[in-house]
Amino acid sequence: MHAIGRYSILEKIASGGMSQIYKGILKGPQGFKKEVVLKNITELHSFSKHLIHEAKILSSFQHPNVVSVYELVEEKKNFFLVMEYIQGQDLDELNSSKMCLSEKVHFYLVSEILKGLEYIHEKGFIHQDLSPSNILISYDGYVKITDFGLAVKKNERTTRSLYGKCSYLSPEQVRGENITFQTDLFSLGLILYEMLRGKKFFEGKTDFEILEKIRKFKTIEEKINSQVDSFLKNLLQQSPCKRFQSAQECLEFIQGHFQIASREEFLKEIQEGPQKTHKLSFVRDMPQKNAFLKHYVIGVCIFFILLGGVSFHYFYNSGSGFLSIQTEPWSYVTIQGEKLMTPLYHYKIKSGRVSVIFENPHLNQKKSKTVWVRRNGNTLILDKF
Ligand SMILES: Nc1ncnc2c1ncn2[C@@H]1O[C@H](COP(=O)(O)OP(=O)(O)O)[C@@H](O)[C@H]1O
Ligand SMILES: [Mg+2]
Repeated sequence: MHAIGRYSILEKIASGGMSQIYKGILKGPQGFKKEVVLKNITELHSFSKHLIHEAKILSSFQHPNVVSVYELVEEKKNFFLVMEYIQGQDLDELNSSKMCLSEKVHFYLVSEILKGLEYIHEKGFIHQDLSPSNILISYDGYVKITDFGLAVKKNERTTRSLYGKCSYLSPEQVRGENITFQTDLFSLGLILYEMLRGKKFFEGKTDFEILEKIRKFKTIEEKINSQVDSFLKNLLQQSPCKRFQSAQECLEFIQGHFQIASREEFLKEIQEGPQKTHKLSFVRDMPQKNAFLKHYVIGVCIFFILLGGVSFHYFYNSGSGFLSIQTEPWSYVTIQGEKLMTPLYHYKIKSGRVSVIFENPHLNQKKSKTVWVRRNGNTLILDKF
């Protein structure tokens, strides 16, 4: 059995994005045993900074709705984040079981997530990567938020290369605009939508298509039929300031307007299996727009973005600006010697001529592109392999 520091590795429990998640065990005297989770980033060494960042944030947190961290271990220049082991499943797995759960159980899960969010926000952090796979549910019904690799301090202007699922991003993240506590509330709205409807709100064949939908998102086109509808509509406002002001306000609203199952009721429903209740169909599907028109509009947008980038260069060729890159499929991008990943949002860079090298490990393709980064502007590159 392989060992990392004091921990023996038992099995790999997940791998995806950049990380590998192992179940491990710490053995002590007199038969003492403690199961733990070890998270490691192997694929690209420079991404270890996300893990170290996550370790530092989590070490200052202590809350029943946030996963606890024990330590950061270094083994042969590889870092491992050691966390409490949550025996259970993540919300993505629960959703995949297609169990029809009652509305009050959904609000139990949402209110537990909100308690965790309220705490994280109080500490001044925005999670920025809230998704069903980052919500852990233990077999005894406790709900915990995990995966803080992309979390940022409010008002901290940082560049982060987002990896993983993009279906839960907010319009402001995709557009490279300021993110706020309400960014997490938008993601929570997308999580609730999926729980209630059994499908994702932003769907697409490729990440590129999904990101384009989020970027252009204006409002849910729907009829408001119930209080749940209007609650969801509030979370899924395009403008962050129109959403609930805080996780606390949102939680108080739920407590005042909806029935919330207790942990015991939640467990009972899960154990009894699928219920007779149907998924609530409260939000109509977004009407499908004419595909030709859609592609035409994307084409025109790309043309104007590129044209705009070139012409503005003549006016703004000093100072700094931002670069956002979306590719289909995802790829590594090397900008001035720094290796990052797409989608990349709001990467701060000296304005002027910038050369970007694209590398796709799956297609084994490499190419480069030169763009003009406008002073104070956010230059967007959309690219397909
Ligand atoms: N503490 C934990 N206990 C049990 N399972 C976990 C734990 N942490 C993560 N996992 C499982 O591993 C998956 C990936 O972990 P996560 O930290 O989200 O990594 P990534 O950055 O690759 O998304 C989670 O979706 C969950 O299924
Ligand atoms: Mg994750």
